[in-house]
Amino acid sequence: MDQMTLVRDRSDALYAPVSRLMTREDWEQNFANDIRAILRLKRERNAVILAHNYQTPEIFHCISDIRGDSLALAREAQRAEEQVIVMAGVHFMAETAKLMNPEKTVLIPDSMAGCSLAESITAENVRALKATYPGVPVVTYVNSSVAVKAETDICCTSGNARKIVESLGVPRVIMIPDEFLAQNIQNETGIEMLTWPGHCEVHERFTPLEIRQYRRMHPGVVVLAHPECPPEVVAEADYAGSTAGMMEFVATRQPKKVLLVTECSMSDNLAALNPAVEFVRPCNLCPHMKRITLSSIRRALENMEEEVTIPDELFPQARRAVERMLAI
Ligand code: 13P
Ligand code: SF4
Repeated sequence: MDQMTLVRDRSDALYAPVSRLMTREDWEQNFANDIRAILRLKRERNAVILAHNYQTPEIFHCISDIRGDSLALAREAQRAEEQVIVMAGVHFMAETAKLMNPEKTVLIPDSMAGCSLAESITAENVRALKATYPGVPVVTYVNSSVAVKAETDICCTSGNARKIVESLGVPRVIMIPDEFLAQNIQNETGIEMLTWPGHCEVHERFTPLEIRQYRRMHPGVVVLAHPECPPEVVAEADYAGSTAGMMEFVATRQPKKVLLVTECSMSDNLAALNPAVEFVRPCNLCPHMKRITLSSIRRALENMEEEVTIPDELFPQARRAVERMLAI
């Protein structure tokens, strides 16, 4: 096989996963250069790219090595063999990866990629809650800062929240900072949740009326909602689960028509993988996830920045809370 054919074949393979979403010409004009440069830099830097399910299709399908929900990314970060981890996700995800890999270099392509939940609560707020409810265990959603995790008994994600809460064997827990996730888990388990008024700015905007309107417009549509949505929205859905749970639902059940009540890129990423499923697309964009782009990832690998660091005094306690979660 001559060199030209080889290059062409490799390029076809890179384009193939997104071919349902864009023309070859658009891919070549807008993405191909950065994609090729990132793949080269990954090899040179001995780097692995972890991508959250809310990343755009060209990141999710064309350059990432590991894809998943927050739980999968936390687990896989622990197993990574490469010396450099690039987190195509938001800052708390990069911090979690660093907690599990203190000896590695963890890069976040844009350190401004935050999260409304993580920003809603401080370590001081948690200390005040613990003082008000002494002896009640604190379960903290991974969408939180390292300082908040360090005040925590155990972390959880939307994928394992029910299991984590039930594993404690207590009638009530302090579950922070996502009020809606806590209420949804309380509805599922009957365990009393003392919570905090933090919300995901993406999921709090969905309403029950909106879901009912979509059902009227698309009879028979299967509705999947993320548990960061308000309980009244979850009550309108056929299924509630983490982004990985939604992906598995679609992959295994292949509903004819599906509505994902979550961030916009989920439907694009799933549409590329499930050609027989029609996606109705009500969605809200996460401005933090969207700060991560091919060019910011390329820059991160070129300049080896921005490197995530964890203050020494917070490290042991915060890591323990994540480790306890991963052990369950
Ligand atoms: P999961 O992917 O764990 O469901 O989390 C969703 C989310 O909002 C992450 O920021
Ligand atoms: Fe945070 Fe919501 Fe964005 Fe996830 S989607 S990073 S929870 S603001």
